Amino acid sequence: MENLDLKYIIETIGCQMNENESFDLAETLSHSGILQAKTLQEANIVILNTCSVRAQAEQKAFSFLGRAERIKKENSSVKIIVIGCMAQRIPDKIKKRFKNIDFIAGTKEANLAEKILKLLPFSEQPKSLPKENLCCKLNFGKIVRHITIMKGCNNYCSYCVVPFVRGQEISFDYKKIMNDCVSMVENGTKEIILLGQNVNSYKYGEIDFSKLISKIAKIESLTRIRFMTNHPKDLNDDLIEIMSKESKVCRHIHLPMQSASDKILEQMNRKYTFKHYLNLIKNLRTAMPDISITTDVIVGFPGESQKNFEETLNAIKDIKFDGLYVFRYSQRPNTKAAQIPDDVSLEEKKHRHSVILKESNEISAKIAAAMVNTKQEVLGEKFENGILSARTRSCRKVFITTDKTYLGKQFYAFIKSAKINSLFGEIR
Ligand code: SAH
Ligand code: SF4
Ligand code: F3S
Repeated sequence: MENLDLKYIIETIGCQMNENESFDLAETLSHSGILQAKTLQEANIVILNTCSVRAQAEQKAFSFLGRAERIKKENSSVKIIVIGCMAQRIPDKIKKRFKNIDFIAGTKEANLAEKILKLLPFSEQPKSLPKENLCCKLNFGKIVRHITIMKGCNNYCSYCVVPFVRGQEISFDYKKIMNDCVSMVENGTKEIILLGQNVNSYKYGEIDFSKLISKIAKIESLTRIRFMTNHPKDLNDDLIEIMSKESKVCRHIHLPMQSASDKILEQMNRKYTFKHYLNLIKNLRTAMPDISITTDVIVGFPGESQKNFEETLNAIKDIKFDGLYVFRYSQRPNTKAAQIPDDVSLEEKKHRHSVILKESNEISAKIAAAMVNTKQEVLGEKFENGILSARTRSCRKVFITTDKTYLGKQFYAFIKSAKINSLFGEIR
């Protein structure tokens, strides 16, 4: 069945959890015969998947909705649909500001895809939507696929809105996860990335995160496993052991540090000290000297003095992360930290942000440069315009001029040159 007159577009703001949910929704829509629009102008179903983590993310949603409403003014048959964390947090505020939204649903809405389909002017409603295995019902030919293994978060880091918009942490049934992984692999997936706000606290009956990984690793035609995000208070020796023993698990870990000042870490309710964090880095590197470690840092948290900031900067210089995301603290309503005055000026936050970014870019560029003239094991992920886009086990992108046969294959590439975020290689 095709609905040639219907075309959807999904704009996604936020984390990989949102990306993955948008992907699932796109599959359901495509499965119902709706085509994917290439531009906003071409679409008559406009879906916005929102994020609330920083004020900036919410601003972005507001300006997108402004554009969508202008399109709807010209063509009233356009449907505007808003989903995700911001739709959970402030639905009334969004509806008040944008009166032409057709449907808004938060993260707790059940059967979201079906409700969206019901809204659409099909000549005939699609009948047989498979409810099981939503993520696997179509083969989009993706070599790398994400799977959400848990939802919500119980950690209540004092700055963070996620526990409020995503609710209590729940680990999904491991048998369901296994089934999904197996069908993905049967459909050609070579790399699976496990997602959760804190994958280290995954627990379903007897199955904890390390056990889950070792079970997934047994799927024969699967080449690689990655996961994110980790929490320093929960990362344990079992995980380090399985990472170092199991060759399918990529030796890359995203371990958000947030700050290196114990005073700030305590105020953030992170439940670890900097010493504990450093110890984890030491243990990871002792077990796997080649491991790549990336992190998140927040600058300008309330009460962060120049000295506290320098502690973080020095830690970054010492640890030498492969990559790093740095964020300016953004006060979020209802969080614990919102009760403390947001006392670092915007100018100072911007300054600290740029100092850290400059430092970390230099480190990351050096690590990339050291890979030139070495052979790296890569997996071919995408093939476009005669160029294969592949990724090293440490999660760096490599562009290789070659043919399509390397798509989905893991092989050694010779690295010829490097930029901070991408490497250029050839097959020798
Ligand atoms: N659960 C994950 C990811 C949370 S959001 C984790 O704990 O790591 C991703 C990153 O956004 C966080 O690691 C943090 O660095 C940043 N972040 C979250 N809330 C923020 C806020 N209010 N202001 C600035 N950065 C924030
Ligand atoms: Fe937010 Fe902390 Fe939970 Fe991460 S662990 S989602 S930063 S509350
Ligand atoms: Fe993700 Fe943003 Fe929601 S970071 S969980 S989309 S608030």
